[in-house]
Amino acid sequence: MNAGWRTELEEVVQALDGFALRGRVLELAGGTGIWTKQLAQTAAELTVVDASPEMLGINRDRVRDPYVRYITADLFELAA
Ligand SMILES: C[S@@+](CC[C@H](N)C(=O)[O-])C[C@H]1O[C@@H](n2cnc3c(N)ncnc32)[C@H](O)[C@@H]1O
Repeated sequence: MNAGWRTELEEVVQALDGFALRGRVLELAGGTGIWTKQLAQTAAELTVVDASPEMLGINRDRVRDPYVRYITADLFELAA
């Protein structure tokens, strides 16, 4: 992980901390769960959508929160 990426990551972590999203939260393209873990700390309900079941499997293992709902779907098809 290079320094530039680490700085950007920290900026997003700080921003999400500042938002402290509550209520019902929808994460699009949640991938491996870097942000899911953080969102799950404040959201009353969290739904994560991603087209890749493998990515969501990694996300599930990383977040380990039975209250997070996972949906495997293509966002472009969801939108249609
Ligand atoms: C940069 S990664 C996600 C980064 C994520 N925040 C993480 O913690 O890993 C982008 C994600 O978008 C998903 N993705 C790409 N196109 C998509 C689409 N059309 N519908 C749903 N998910 C999509 C990929 O499967 C991948 O998991």
